Amino acid sequence: MIKKNGLIILILSLIIIGCSNEDDLNEPSVVTVGDSNYRPEYHFTPEENWMNDPNGMVYYKGEYHLFFQYNPNANVWGPMHWGHAVSNDLVNWEELPVALYPDNLGNIFSGSAVVDTHNTTGFKTGEEDVLVSIFTHQNPETNEQYQSLAFSNDRGRTWDKYEGNPVLVNEEKTDFRDPKVIWHDDTQQWIMVVAAGQEILFYSSPNLKEWKFLQSFGQGLGAHGGVWECPDLFMVENENGDEKWALLVSINPGGPNGGSGTQYFLGSFDGKTFQTNQTETKWLDHGPDNYAGVTWSNEPNGRNLFIGWMSNWAYAQDVPTKAWRSAMTLPRRLKLSQDEDLIISRPAEEMNSVVTTDLVEFKSTGVEIQDNPVVKGGSFKLKTKLDFSEVNTAQISYGNRTSGVTLQYDKGASEIFIDRSDAGFDFNNLNNNNIRVPYVLPENNELDLEIWVDKSSVEVFVNSGERVITFLVFPGTPFDELRIHSSKEGEFIKSLELNKVDSE
Ligand code: FRU
Repeated sequence: MIKKNGLIILILSLIIIGCSNEDDLNEPSVVTVGDSNYRPEYHFTPEENWMNDPNGMVYYKGEYHLFFQYNPNANVWGPMHWGHAVSNDLVNWEELPVALYPDNLGNIFSGSAVVDTHNTTGFKTGEEDVLVSIFTHQNPETNEQYQSLAFSNDRGRTWDKYEGNPVLVNEEKTDFRDPKVIWHDDTQQWIMVVAAGQEILFYSSPNLKEWKFLQSFGQGLGAHGGVWECPDLFMVENENGDEKWALLVSINPGGPNGGSGTQYFLGSFDGKTFQTNQTETKWLDHGPDNYAGVTWSNEPNGRNLFIGWMSNWAYAQDVPTKAWRSAMTLPRRLKLSQDEDLIISRPAEEMNSVVTTDLVEFKSTGVEIQDNPVVKGGSFKLKTKLDFSEVNTAQISYGNRTSGVTLQYDKGASEIFIDRSDAGFDFNNLNNNNIRVPYVLPENNELDLEIWVDKSSVEVFVNSGERVITFLVFPGTPFDELRIHSSKEGEFIKSLELNKVDSE
C-alpha cells in the first residue's frame, strides 16, 4: 500500500510528466512522436482537441473571425460547440473562449455569421454593430435539425441565443443544416442557403427571424455520391469584371478522390432563383483533404476569401495527432476564370508577407535538394515551372531515405498523380492514397506549380489556381529531401524558387 504522502508525490510526478509535452495533453500516459512534428506553422489549428468545419466567418472592425465546429472535451467528434479565433492578418490567429455551447435545443452544428448593420433583427443594444450567427441546432436524441440565431454586441466576445429559437424548421427533411446567410443588395433582403438531404434550399428574410421558402436546387445536377452539406452562395468576378453567381456544396462521401469533397455550380441568381446551365461536376479542390469550406462575410476589400477544413470524414478521427485534431486550409481568394468557366483559387495575398525569400540554385535537367534548412524545417513554399516540350513525365518527390510523397505529371495521360501511400497514411481505411487529377497542359506545354507545405499538409496550386489539390501527409520521420526529375534526359525545369514560410 502506498502511504498518503507517497501517493501525493506519485500523483504530482505523474502530472508533471503528463504536462511536459504538448503531445500528452489528453492522455498523460501515452507519448506520441507525432504531434509537434505535425502541427502546422502557418495554418490554424486549435490549441487542443477536436475541430471540424469552419463556421461563422465574418469580418468586423479589423478582425477576421473564424468560428469552428469544436469538441472542447475530446480529440474526436462529440457534442458540437463553436470554437472561436480571431486574426487581423489571416496568418496569426488568437484562440478565444468557446463562443456557443449546446443548450436545451441541442448541439451547435455549422452555420454562418453576418454583421447586421441596419439592425434588421433589433438585437443591437450599444454602440457596436450587432453580429448575428445563424446556425443549426441538432437534437442529440432524435437528430432533428433546425436553424437558430445568436447575437453579440461586443465584437463577438460574448453571445446570447435568441429566445425565439429555432427560427426555421423543416418537418420533411432529417438532414437540414449548415445555413449560410448573405445580404442580397439588389432586393434588400437576407438570403439563406441551407443543405437538405441532397439538395440546397433557398430562403429569404427581412430580419433573419422570419424565413420564406424560395427554391430547392440540385435534383439531377452535380455529384450525388453522399449527403450535401455546408453550402455557400456568392458572386465571383474575373479580371475583366465579368460576374457569375457561385454555389458551393460540400458532399460526403462522393468527393473527387474519395470521401469528402466540395463541388460548385456557376450560374445566376436574382434574389429568388438560382439557375445554372452547367452539366458537368466541378470540384473546388481535387485533393481529398479540403471540406466544408465557405467564404467570409463582410470582407473589407470585397474579396471572396475562403477557408476549408483540411481533412476528410473517412479518417479525420484517426489521424496520428493527439493533443489537437485538424487544421484549416490556407485562406484562399476565389475568382472567376477569364473564360468564366471555373473558380480559380489562390492563397490570400496576406500569405506573401510570411514568405521569406531563399532562392536555391537549380539545374534545368533536374535537382536534388538535401541538407537544406528550409526543406528540413517542413514549412515552405516551392514554386516551379516545368516544361513538357521535351519530356513526357516529371516527378517531384519529398521525403527521406525510407518514405516520401511523390507528385507526377504525365503529359500522355494528361494527369497529375500523387502517391502518398508511403507517407504515414497506413491508418487510412479508405485507402485513397493515390490521388489522380485530370489536367491538360496549356499550349505552351508548361506546368506551373505553387506548392505550400506545412509539416503535415500539402496544398498544390496548378497554373495559378486553375486546379488545387490539398492533401495531408504524416511522415514517420520528418521529410528532409526534395527531388525533381524527369522520365528522360533533357532540360525541363524552367524556374524554381524555394521559400521558407514563417509566421513568426
Ligand atoms: C460537415 C458537417 C455539417 C455539420 C457538422 C457537424 O462536416 O457534417 O454538415 O453541421 O459537420 O459537426
